[in-house]
Amino acid sequence: MNKAIYFAAAFAFLTNVPLKAQNQYKSNISKMYQGKEINNKFDKEIARLLVQMTLEEKIGMLHGNSMFTTGGVERLGIPELKMADGPLGVREEISRDSWAPAGLTNDFATYYPAAGALAATWNPNLAYTFGNSVGQELRARDKDMLLSPAINIVRTPLGGRTYEYMTEDPFLNKKMTVPMVVGLQDNDVMACVKHFAANNQETNRDFVDVQIDERTLREIYLPAFEAAVKEGKAYSIMGAYNKFRGEYLCENDYMLNKVLRDEWGFKGVVVSDWAAVHTTVKSLKSGLDIEMGTPKPFNEFFLADKLLAAVKAGEISEKEIDLHVERILRTLFQVKAMGANDRVKGSIATEAHYQDAYKIAAESVVLLKNDNNALPLNLNGIKSIAVIGNNATKKNALGGFGAGVKTKREVTPLEGLKNRLPSSVKINYAEGYLERYEEKNTGKLGDITLNGPVTIDKLDDAKVQEAVEAAKNSDIAIVFAGSNRDYETEASDRRSLKLPFAQEELIKKVVEVNPKTILVMVAGAPFDIKDISTKTNALVWSWFNGSEGGNALADVILGNVNPSGKLPWTMPVDIKDSPAHATNSFPGDKTVEYKEGILVGYRWFDTKKVEPLYPFGYGLSYTTFSFEKPTTDKKVYQENEMISVSVSIKNTGKLDGKEVVQVYASKPDSKVSRAAQELKGFQKVLAKAGKSELVTIKIPVKDLAFYNVDTKKWEVEKGKYILHVGNSSRNNNQQISINIH
Ligand code: BGC
Repeated sequence: MNKAIYFAAAFAFLTNVPLKAQNQYKSNISKMYQGKEINNKFDKEIARLLVQMTLEEKIGMLHGNSMFTTGGVERLGIPELKMADGPLGVREEISRDSWAPAGLTNDFATYYPAAGALAATWNPNLAYTFGNSVGQELRARDKDMLLSPAINIVRTPLGGRTYEYMTEDPFLNKKMTVPMVVGLQDNDVMACVKHFAANNQETNRDFVDVQIDERTLREIYLPAFEAAVKEGKAYSIMGAYNKFRGEYLCENDYMLNKVLRDEWGFKGVVVSDWAAVHTTVKSLKSGLDIEMGTPKPFNEFFLADKLLAAVKAGEISEKEIDLHVERILRTLFQVKAMGANDRVKGSIATEAHYQDAYKIAAESVVLLKNDNNALPLNLNGIKSIAVIGNNATKKNALGGFGAGVKTKREVTPLEGLKNRLPSSVKINYAEGYLERYEEKNTGKLGDITLNGPVTIDKLDDAKVQEAVEAAKNSDIAIVFAGSNRDYETEASDRRSLKLPFAQEELIKKVVEVNPKTILVMVAGAPFDIKDISTKTNALVWSWFNGSEGGNALADVILGNVNPSGKLPWTMPVDIKDSPAHATNSFPGDKTVEYKEGILVGYRWFDTKKVEPLYPFGYGLSYTTFSFEKPTTDKKVYQENEMISVSVSIKNTGKLDGKEVVQVYASKPDSKVSRAAQELKGFQKVLAKAGKSELVTIKIPVKDLAFYNVDTKKWEVEKGKYILHVGNSSRNNNQQISINIH
């Protein structure tokens, strides 16, 4: 017997688990993702270049010379640094000096699911797939840096960019961020992780001063950024618009110099958000490297002519300028933008990339309710289906303010159903509600504005009539409701959780005439669906779900795909239940104090015993799973050890399915105030119908630490901890007690 088999057999014997299950478990271990450090081997070459550069040429590299490039030095072979937005895929090409589209015909790209969808897969391997796929596209467009991932914590469900961010939980956030960064950077490009940090609202984002206590900052808002730097080795970071403790984040010495560089050892470049810089010498000295911005003559940027004047006036030395130029050159060498001829060439909008988008979308769909097995649709005897709602045909690759993707493929929910349903089933489509906005204070039809869309929440009689007729005359009705990327948008937060455009009224009218109505939400953030969720048997949650979103959704509805998405945030019953609102600390005016402290998301709901509508980590499947009693490899651990939690889960239904095993930890009698529980580990696992899988989740003891503000260190309290194992934050009653010595 070779050594490996011997140990597997011995372990199986000791833990009483059949060897077969052990082997199956092994194939489910999620990979460890570790990025490549920026290499110092280019330093000689960098020094050689620096001595040849004029001060003007150096400064040219520190600010935008177009909307998405910084200056190069052609005579020395230094290229422009070429950037592209962003989280949904490589943004279309815009003009060099304005936001106007460049009007090219070769900048079509794959539209990938929004980050909220990616997080809902709870599958870090898909985060790698996402990064790797979009990294290929970035290279095919000859870019160096993707302004992504966007990983700010979802502090309030009303945040305009909730769909663009991953989650309310710092652990899930970092577990998805690191593989995304590694996948991207494996393609000779830089990830630009944004928006660093404490940028959790759009309201007043240009100036609001965020006050967060140090422990909360460390435990909630920084972990994913820290992991992106330390594990993912992200080559760049974007400074946010707002202020933090009185200083703008692009000139915040504490955040950029002390935390990011001194503590975390960040070696890459800090890029400003667009027009987020307010000073010249101060911003550079505080750790910023590159100023990007919105249209004004590029020489008027703070890090352009003004910087030249500052050097000449002796306010900052050329040596200091060199430091920033060196950093940029080092990353350009690292991603082979110079000094190499074997750089990844990439490919774009290929079938393979559309399939990457499909895989993510298919695992992101969350089944929230499924009474009487309403889903998957049983097509026996079904001759017609009413498809109702503007969201059945609405496209979201472009829209609102902020970065979108120009794509040749965006399969809408209606198209997805048409693609997947047999031709014998007739689809009766009705738009149902109109997406309409009001020009502020005029009552007239208008466009969305930077001040936030004002929706017209009134149904159109003829449209309602059409929808009701379609529902009446069909065997089943599916309403596609929710929001879109005009309504959920950068630059403004939502005013409430209410569904826009009077959709709730429409849904109720449809249900009245056809009790076999299924509700599908297409949205990126929580909505008030309390009432309507009681009216329908089945409730499905989809997202701004990329090029293949409609196909993936149809596959879930029809049972070709067994849903396995889990909510990456808490769906509250009422906005006042959410921590930032319960503490009346959103949105603030000039200042916003995060009064809920560490109790963000489910941490608040669980600690304060507030019942959510749907909890964090929740999502159903078409099959059922039973959890055996979980075990740990030991009962007592030292601080530098690893806790191994094992649980056998059985697929007790008739369909193969994926389940997400989640482990939460709590500390009874802690000397500091703590959340009732915190997510510490998870694993998505495929279990075939009727089969069991042994899942083992490793939790480093150090992950149980809290941040001690007195010692400024992470501290693992000794004593008893309880681990809660289950498949959501509210269905995890299997407990194990362990001790840390
Ligand atoms: C956004 C960034 C984006 C940048 C460039 C800013 O308004 O906050 O996320 O990358 O614009 O489009």
